[in-house]
Amino acid sequence: MGILKGKDILHGNQFTRKEIESIIKVASEFEKELKRRNNLPLLRGKILATLFFEPSTRTRLSFETSMQRLGGGVISMGPVEGSSVAKGETLTDTARTIAQYADVIVIRHPRIGSAKEVADAVSIPVINAGDGAGQHPTQALLDIYTIYKELGSLKDLTISLVGDLKNGRTVHALVEVLSHFGVQFYFVAPDILQMPKEITERLKEKACKVVETDDLVMAASKSDLIYMTRIQKERFADLSEYEKVKGSFIIDRTFLEKLGKKITLLHPLPRVHEIHPDVDDYSGAAYFRQVRNGVYVRMALLAMVFGKR
Ligand code: NCD
Repeated sequence: MGILKGKDILHGNQFTRKEIESIIKVASEFEKELKRRNNLPLLRGKILATLFFEPSTRTRLSFETSMQRLGGGVISMGPVEGSSVAKGETLTDTARTIAQYADVIVIRHPRIGSAKEVADAVSIPVINAGDGAGQHPTQALLDIYTIYKELGSLKDLTISLVGDLKNGRTVHALVEVLSHFGVQFYFVAPDILQMPKEITERLKEKACKVVETDDLVMAASKSDLIYMTRIQKERFADLSEYEKVKGSFIIDRTFLEKLGKKITLLHPLPRVHEIHPDVDDYSGAAYFRQVRNGVYVRMALLAMVFGKR
């Protein structure tokens, strides 16, 4: 195949439908393989560098886990206080330095477009693990893999995306990836946190149906799946605005019982108030299975970037 060999992974809209299907296929092959043994040493001798300028639990640790299960090594930079960034080094100089040590860079940074800047500055592949309120393409791929596994197909789906659609990079990337599969979307958000217009327009051009609403009960009643998100407090210039919207949508057991049908629930995590812990043992609550899928999908992406699939 070799379709991702040597490539950067920067944006949800960079993938064709065929590429997405290949990634799902490789991830599911790796998932099966990892049930038999705990490593798959395709990347022995390769080094992955993580460069994180924003907090992370799952994204960084799952990339590190994935690289180690593939037999490769990991070097990590972050928090900023421990590095020359604290002395005023530019992002591109830091990246050029790391490119002398590593074979692939995974970067998270608060500025939209930062991963692309780094990709333009170095010759090794760069993977965007979140550029501010921009994109988070590897999350989108693990999300679509989870949707495929939980629902058994990507055909004729109706999906509600709920919460902070303006600032949420996971939803920005996920809708791009899903747009190849003719999804019916409900965008459930307070007015000030609705999906950026240019993304919604692009979806409509690709023949996806989009309904914007703040009525979660209505949207859920029509959906196969709800993708909840955290209100992105760190992106608010005025915290009083955050206070106004922070508890807008909450799913708890009572909500699901009233809904009266089974629904699948995803969340990129971390959750704050959006999903009550009393939902965790509900059969459709798939957010911790989603976390685990992150390893298979990131293993697939790394193997493919190095041309090993
Ligand atoms: C998300 C992120 O960092 O964008 N987390 C993740 O990568 N799983 C979601 C969030 O922070 O709300």
